Amino acid sequence: MHKMDRLFIFFLMGLLMLTACGAAAKMVYTDLDILKKLENFDIPEDDDDYDTKLFDLPSFTSRGSGKSLVNVDTFGAAGDGVSDDTQAFVSAWKQACGTPKSVLLVPQGRSYLVNATKFNGPCERKFIIQIDGTIVAPEEPTNWDPKFQRIWLEFSKLKGVVFQGNGVIDGSGSKWWAASCKKNKSNPCKSAPTAFTIESSSGVKVRGLTIQNSQQMNFIIARSTSVRVYKVIVSSPGDSPNTDGIHITGSTNVVLQDCKIGTGDDCVSIVNASSNIKMKRIYCGPGHGISIGSLGNHNTTGIVTKVVLDTAFLKETTNGLRIKTYQGGSGYVKGVRFTNVVMQDVSNPILIDQFYCDNPTSCQNQTSAVKISQIMYRNVFGTTKSEKAIKFACSDTVPCSHIVLNNVNLEGKDGKVEAYCNSAEGFGYGVVHPSADCLYSHDDKGLDQSDKSGPALVIEEAETGHDEL
Ligand SMILES: *[C@@H]1O[C@H](CO)[C@@H](O)[C@H](O)[C@H]1NC(C)=O
Ligand SMILES: *[C@@H]1O[C@H](CO)[C@@H](O)[C@H](O)[C@H]1NC(C)=O
Ligand SMILES: *[C@@H]1O[C@H](CO)[C@@H](O)[C@H](O)[C@H]1NC(C)=O
Ligand SMILES: *[C@@H]1O[C@H](CO)[C@@H](O)[C@H](O)[C@H]1NC(C)=O
Ligand SMILES: *[C@@H]1O[C@H](CO)[C@@H](O)[C@H](O)[C@H]1NC(C)=O
Repeated sequence: MHKMDRLFIFFLMGLLMLTACGAAAKMVYTDLDILKKLENFDIPEDDDDYDTKLFDLPSFTSRGSGKSLVNVDTFGAAGDGVSDDTQAFVSAWKQACGTPKSVLLVPQGRSYLVNATKFNGPCERKFIIQIDGTIVAPEEPTNWDPKFQRIWLEFSKLKGVVFQGNGVIDGSGSKWWAASCKKNKSNPCKSAPTAFTIESSSGVKVRGLTIQNSQQMNFIIARSTSVRVYKVIVSSPGDSPNTDGIHITGSTNVVLQDCKIGTGDDCVSIVNASSNIKMKRIYCGPGHGISIGSLGNHNTTGIVTKVVLDTAFLKETTNGLRIKTYQGGSGYVKGVRFTNVVMQDVSNPILIDQFYCDNPTSCQNQTSAVKISQIMYRNVFGTTKSEKAIKFACSDTVPCSHIVLNNVNLEGKDGKVEAYCNSAEGFGYGVVHPSADCLYSHDDKGLDQSDKSGPALVIEEAETGHDEL
């Protein structure tokens, strides 16, 4: 059996037990509006059986399949890991993209050295990019084309394409990491390429690929809608700087499912202008956890709404479930549900940090901040490495509101665990350990009254907008 399959069966067994104890507590609070709404807030997933026979390569070539196979080798790719295969990939892309029902094939058992390249659509319908071999980046940062400072392989303006296969996209990032200012303060803080970027696209599926050792972020989904990512593995060393696993920006209706991510920064990070994001069965570790943000840096506006994480295992990560915003920002994070999460030796398992600062100079407290509300943590279990297992560090002027904890049990190695709150309103029910009594209640004196009068919840079912792929 596949290693990952075994892992998820282990999750599922654990979660069956968790769900059983969740039911009783729920009854008492069903009259609370916020819980009901968060309960119903979900994004439909696809069943992952779409065209599964496509994995079966011979069917591409068999007569009557109607597929047009475009093999990079036909365009002169050497696949020896040394020769520059960029031009062969560009030519093969051009041919495949312009032909209906084509399959661009990167054959298995070979390694293709490809420079930074933008592969642009739109392409003809039913385009499949089948990556079974390895694509590697040149490893020398000093030779990198400055025109492509932030990208290695970028795919843009695509509609209804499938990336799939058992292949590997390898950023050969070690020299980039050494040149990072996070590694050596005397290095300049410069951006580095992202291994794999989906840009300004819709109806994209990515299935089965491994993305590893990226120069910086591994996989970015940017300004896109309706993206499905299944069984993708991201692997970069735990000490590689800023190597986020999957980064979502400006995108809506995105599902990440059955992904295993180990990296040196956030396993998943979701930033500005993203909504309707669902993560299901995610393994994270090593890494900095599953994050919303950062948002609001340099007084900018950040908006993230409707995010669901259902079933995750985090192992030895430096954070667990994190929302991070800078002082001075504006906008909001609203409607987030983290459920069925198992943690093992995680630092900062549950964290809202409205004082986040990752700038070379320190950040000052300001009166404006990104507002954080309607955040639910349910069935979160495991072990914490920090005493403050639950930390809601919210702005004095823009408090966090509607924070709900249900069936949370985090144990410290040496027994003592505690919750910390600054300016955070909400409540816990069922088992909540450490106790989150530091949350102030909606009815407490001193609560910003304007918070009560307005419509507290803006999670509209109709807006879910699940597009067919
Ligand atoms: C790839 O990059 C190298 C180094 O910049 C350059 O010499 C080479 O011409 C590039 N190859 C292509 C096909 O652009
Ligand atoms: C950091 O970079 C500087 C300048 O490039 C170099 O002289 C120094 O040896 C580096 N330090 C370490 C610890 O690598
Ligand atoms: C956030 O997204 C909105 C909407 O797309 C955009 O207007 C704004 O400039 C973005 N903010 C940043 C910091 O990029
Ligand atoms: C952000 O706004 C504060 C308060 O108005 C101001 O002092 C600060 O200089 C601004 N920072 C940036 C990066 O614009
Ligand atoms: C910012 O405000 C928080 C909450 O009141 C406080 O804990 C922190 O010390 C302040 N930081 C600075 C730099 O003033």
